[in-house]
Amino acid sequence: MAALPLFRRALDAPLIGPSILSADFAHLAREIRSVLAAGADYIHVDVMDGHFVPNLSMGPAVCASVRRVAPRSFIDVHLMVSDPAMFIEAFVDSGANHITVHVEACRKPRNLLERIRGEGLTAGVAIKPETSWRALEGLIRWADLFLVMSVHPGFGGQTFLRSTLPKVRALRARIAPTQRIELDGGVNRETARLCLAAGGDALVAGSFVFGAADRTEAIRSLRPRRRR
Ligand code: DX5
Ligand code: ZN
Repeated sequence: MAALPLFRRALDAPLIGPSILSADFAHLAREIRSVLAAGADYIHVDVMDGHFVPNLSMGPAVCASVRRVAPRSFIDVHLMVSDPAMFIEAFVDSGANHITVHVEACRKPRNLLERIRGEGLTAGVAIKPETSWRALEGLIRWADLFLVMSVHPGFGGQTFLRSTLPKVRALRARIAPTQRIELDGGVNRETARLCLAAGGDALVAGSFVFGAADRTEAIRSLRPRRRR
């Protein structure tokens, strides 16, 4: 039997997904291999269109390059774009395993989630820091992952917003243990503990992992210590 996708499994430890937004783009292959060797569970790809957020980042061609470097790794695409429907197919073709769309950018989020799942991927829905978790309430059956942004989307290296944690708690009380809550933005060894305590189980970390002298130690520090 084929293994369940990463974002539908029962977990015994939280998942860590480095965001390549903070990688050295001139050496992307080396950067990806480095974080995978350091223990990353998946690769987080931040897509920005200069409209939904005030920055530009990368598109399907970069996702396809990640896929070539890491043929068996799980690729998590975070679409911070005003028209996510326009890009689903391109990211499916570029080898994404999962796509998250922002609820603020969708007129019919459920349709989009169904389309992503229909392509054989797992589907996620994201909220910005100012958006209530209630915007996700009607989508719980249709998504595998709920992304609670812990910074204002657009840039790496910002300070974690603790005000997002009550949303994580509210969602965790309403979803299945096999559904993910992903936190994204300002995650480091201190804020990771807050995320996990609130019920998060997938942590994106960009500057903390790529900026660390020892990336293995950095990734390990985001997971809870095992009790003996
Ligand atoms: C922000 C992106 C994040 C970002 C996280 O818009 O969605 O994935 O790269 O970067 P850090 O971990 O540096 O806050
Ligand atoms: Zn992201």
